[in-house]
Amino acid sequence: MAGPVPSANGFTAQNPLTRLTLPELRQRTSVKWRRYAPDVLPLWVAEMDVFLAPAVTDALRSAIDLGDTGYAYGTAYAEALGDFAARRWGWNDFRVDRTTVVPDVMMGIVEVLRLVTDPGDAVVVCSPVYPPFYAFVSHADRQVIEAPLGPDQRIDLAALDEAFRRAREYGRRPAFLICNPHNPTGVVHRRDELEAVAELAGRHGLRVISDEIHAPLVLPGTHFTPYLTVAGAENAFALISASKAWNLAGLKAALAVAGPQAAADLNRMPEEVSHGPSHLGVIAHTAAFRAGGPWLDLVLDGLDTNRTLLETLLAKHMPSVRYRRPEGTYLAWLDCTALGIDTGQSDGEPGVVSDVAGPAKMFLDRARVALSSGHVFGTGGAGFVRLNFATSPAILTDAVTRMGRAVDADHPSGG
Ligand SMILES: Cc1ncc(COP(=O)(O)O)c(C=O)c1O
Repeated sequence: MAGPVPSANGFTAQNPLTRLTLPELRQRTSVKWRRYAPDVLPLWVAEMDVFLAPAVTDALRSAIDLGDTGYAYGTAYAEALGDFAARRWGWNDFRVDRTTVVPDVMMGIVEVLRLVTDPGDAVVVCSPVYPPFYAFVSHADRQVIEAPLGPDQRIDLAALDEAFRRAREYGRRPAFLICNPHNPTGVVHRRDELEAVAELAGRHGLRVISDEIHAPLVLPGTHFTPYLTVAGAENAFALISASKAWNLAGLKAALAVAGPQAAADLNRMPEEVSHGPSHLGVIAHTAAFRAGGPWLDLVLDGLDTNRTLLETLLAKHMPSVRYRRPEGTYLAWLDCTALGIDTGQSDGEPGVVSDVAGPAKMFLDRARVALSSGHVFGTGGAGFVRLNFATSPAILTDAVTRMGRAVDADHPSGG
């Protein structure tokens, strides 16, 4: 392992994104590191190349030492999130008794959809968006309706109004699945935007489900607004988890949070859903929200550095690729349309995370860099790639340099 040895409680002030070497990362067995051949730099799926937060590893080690590996119990996870939400986001009326644990955010979304919509009903999403929004919604027999983001990559309220109107034609109980912060653009919706969303949803009679998995990853200079703190969001739901911000996707646990007028719906959640999260997951996520703040701040600093480094690298190696600095998440949404690469299967069904076509395929084949292919994010995604910059500056530099060389080989003039 590179860098200083941890202090007695395991905490050092070093950037967690620079602690693990490439050979160490290649020993990982998760999908990010195993899906592609060993010569590929994986900057695709949303896993971070971090050395875990000592608060989390300490909690897990104690649980293992005690054999505390039974069933999860109690409200510690929700209490830890409530304290974190008050401290970081000023969410002071967070109510533990309006939460329930769910196995993960996507399963939580599906279970909430089952509570507030019926088969055949419409679910509106703002495209381009996290591909499983398409797959999970349609597998739950609901219909996805797209409200494309505007050219500034923010919510287009006129498009949303129109999508909400159409959604009413599908069935009695439509819903809006909002991604806040938005994956893949990294846009963090402002309070005034969310208030406008709540007003529209109220007017058209849609229930709102807010995926806030990236909320702790809002980068310096931007403030996160929890949807449930917005006027008009009283009958909405939020899904929140420590899994993205502390890299705990393999330790399953998340929370569904209901607004005051959604509490009765949440109470109808079938009991077996709360049996899904793993006890070790709940322990890890609780420790993250309770004591993982100093580590998270180091990650946010590292990500802030990387989003600027990426800007510099792109300007140098691929000036025709357009990049808008994300306000949150560790995802960069790169507009590669000027490269003129055939977007191939881009007219196919969105939703299959592993489907690679267009520029992502070119970068995989010629640069040996794995990115997420834009077309799987729905309308507006073709010609884009999503790059995960939660890695070391060295790996990021190597990846973008290789990508630049691949583009130059294709277009010797630099286009
Ligand atoms: C917006 C969004 N929602 C949900 C998930 C998946 O979360 P989980 O593993 O808790 O289902 C991700 C993962 O990247 C995501 O970006």
